[in-house]
Amino acid sequence: MDKHVYNRLRDIIRDRVGIDISYYSTSFIARRIEFRMNICNIRDYTDYLRLLEYTDEIKEFVANLSINVTEFFRDPDVFDRFKELLKGYSNARIWSVGCASGEEPYTIAIIAKDNGVRCSILASDISKNAIEYAKKGLYQSKSVRNVPKDILARYFTLTGDGYAVRSDVKDMVTFEVRDVTRCINTGPFDFIFCRNMLIYMNDVSKSTIINNICNAMKPNSYLILGKSEYIHNCSMLSCIDTKTKIYIKKI
Ligand SMILES: C[S@@+](CC[C@H](N)C(=O)[O-])C[C@H]1O[C@@H](n2cnc3c(N)ncnc32)[C@H](O)[C@@H]1O
Repeated sequence: MDKHVYNRLRDIIRDRVGIDISYYSTSFIARRIEFRMNICNIRDYTDYLRLLEYTDEIKEFVANLSINVTEFFRDPDVFDRFKELLKGYSNARIWSVGCASGEEPYTIAIIAKDNGVRCSILASDISKNAIEYAKKGLYQSKSVRNVPKDILARYFTLTGDGYAVRSDVKDMVTFEVRDVTRCINTGPFDFIFCRNMLIYMNDVSKSTIINNICNAMKPNSYLILGKSEYIHNCSMLSCIDTKTKIYIKKI
């Protein structure tokens, strides 16, 4: 994909759906484009850009980036480990970076409440649509399939066509539209979850994000990444569990 095509693609996606793909690695974007072009049976980039600009193919393309995919209790072993670490706290400030449609911060809130730890959770995402959805706290039955039955009964209310997060759990979470590559003035936090977002980023964005996150962490606080993500060459962080990708801020 030449630079002209890439720049046009970036502008169309930003203007139509408000997502800036320049944070993502170009090879990731190129693979996704080729995948969709094959499905649409299109050989020429210009023809595909026209589809993205004028048709609902844009929705398919964005869905295919998988960048909003999330679920309650995603990677349960990570939350088991989080539960253990949380035992040392009576109060905790937590940030869910790239929270998508809210399942991750609500999972965190439920675990804290269930373990008697008071906490305030900032949940942010670059996507305005994702944050608006998350704020409602309403989920279809298929979204709660991984929620243990007893938790579902205690922290959700059955509604007409799905489940609503109980209001005392909702009150623990503040949602904000926020781009984590930009300078951050909040914090400091005891735990930061930044899961399944760095994987799509180019190296420059990745190191900007890690730096911004480190600045928002208390000494001896924890950063939790996605299971296929890792950090190298960061003097402030050391990994305490390679399986669950939990890091501690050294000072
Ligand atoms: C795959 S989801 C991960 C959701 C959740 N953390 C999880 O692991 O289930 C990645 C999220 O990162 C968000 N994101 C991407 N770039 C971002 C940025 N620069 N700042 C904040 N959020 C961003 C996307 O909008 C998306 O909702």
